Amino acid sequence: MANVVVVGSQWGDEGKGKIVDWLSERADVVVRFQGGHNAGHTLVVDGKVYKLSLLPSGVVREGKLSIIGNGVVFDPHAFVTEVGKLKDQGVEVTPDRLKIAENTALILSLHRELDGFREDAASNSGTKIGTTRRGIGPAYEDKVGRRAVRVMDLADLETLPLKVDRLLTHHNALRRGLGHPEATHEAIMAELTSVADRILPYMDRVWKVLDDRRKAGERILFEGAQGTLLDIDHGTYPFVTSSNTVAGQAAAGSGMGPGGVGYVLGITKAYTTRVGEGPFPTEQTNEIGEFLGTKGHEFGVVTGRKRRCGWFDAVLVRQAVAVNGIKGIALTKLDVLDGLPEIKVCTAYRLDGEVIDYLPASQGAQARVEPIYETLEGWSGTTAGARSWNDLPAQAVKYVRHIEELIGAPVALLSTSPERDDTILVTDPFQD
Ligand code: GDP
Ligand code: IMO
Ligand code: MG
Repeated sequence: MANVVVVGSQWGDEGKGKIVDWLSERADVVVRFQGGHNAGHTLVVDGKVYKLSLLPSGVVREGKLSIIGNGVVFDPHAFVTEVGKLKDQGVEVTPDRLKIAENTALILSLHRELDGFREDAASNSGTKIGTTRRGIGPAYEDKVGRRAVRVMDLADLETLPLKVDRLLTHHNALRRGLGHPEATHEAIMAELTSVADRILPYMDRVWKVLDDRRKAGERILFEGAQGTLLDIDHGTYPFVTSSNTVAGQAAAGSGMGPGGVGYVLGITKAYTTRVGEGPFPTEQTNEIGEFLGTKGHEFGVVTGRKRRCGWFDAVLVRQAVAVNGIKGIALTKLDVLDGLPEIKVCTAYRLDGEVIDYLPASQGAQARVEPIYETLEGWSGTTAGARSWNDLPAQAVKYVRHIEELIGAPVALLSTSPERDDTILVTDPFQD
């Protein structure tokens, strides 16, 4: 019996939330291991829609333990707001159902502000990333710079002021440089002390909780946020997020050794989308892009931005299969392609006159690659809401089989609508 890691194999928004929610029925523990409230995961259960950004998608199921691992950057205010929203929807997030790692770095208001100041300044110089402006990048910078305030610091009011001062020395230099007023010690201390009581009851030694649960034979599901092409090392740098989003991070970002991590499931959309700036070889800024965006409701959960849309890029997903060790994929949103007379798939790139079968690492080359397409016939029937392989039109099955071949990984799950139960199981990742 394997544990399972779910990762996005494209630029995020592949449908990870839906699949994690579906898989969490078979799991005991669901763990977030990177990213923060830049994620936007949508779950639809019996017509009821839940939008989660910071909490693991397992939280809507009774009897499951949710965990926020040390690899996450944690905004206490976003947490309190999300817990409140879920309460209004009838989901109680109590400390016996959720644990937050004591060594998790915090996102403070000054991180969010710095993210915004930089994006505003970059708008004029053409170096904008198009971040979610949630303070993710600045919080990871402080973590790696060894000056972050962490969850456990909220319990130590003697040393907290010293940590805040150290952080402010750094941030106020940046703020002055960008022409913004300094942040004050009093304001940051007030911000932290006002939320401490709401956070501390959830704090735990997560590495130990996971070790105990694993030894007890429980099933652990790791929920990735963002996608492989947004990974700080393997993505389209610098147009990426500030964490490792690949499956390897599940171990470091939770405190469980890599041997316990298990089956890697790559969530893969039947076409491609991206939010924010950066290269996107198969982007369709035409009626096809409009069709995919409208039919697929491709609007960001966190920022409401329209997602850029394009054809399936097998080069990128093949690379994602390799760097994550993806054993099988969950293919989502096949139904969005219903009714298209023909469907294109990118199988290779042309770069400066040469044909290549990988994404080059340099920013300049990534901007220059041109997709080489294969054209497949579409299907006239519908895949929407199908719950059995036999309900799929023959041509749709052909498309799925062709994708499997191009990326070198089989379909383990097929999703045919936003609803939890519109999911076809081919191979159970927990049993494989
Ligand atoms: P995530 O960030 O990877 O969790 O994905 P998002 O929730 O941001 O975006 C995926 C969107 O597609 C959500 O609105 C889901 O409800 C929806 N969705 C998931 N799977 C399917 C599917 O198979 N078909 C359709 N039509 N929508 C889906
Ligand atoms: P889920 O988990 C899609 C993108 C932003 C921007 C870049 C950096 O829902 O798939 P950041 O705020 O992280 O510093 O922004 O990353 N981005 C996402 N795009 N889905 C996400 O999460 C994303 N999280 C960040 O749009 O281009
Ligand atoms: Mg999303």
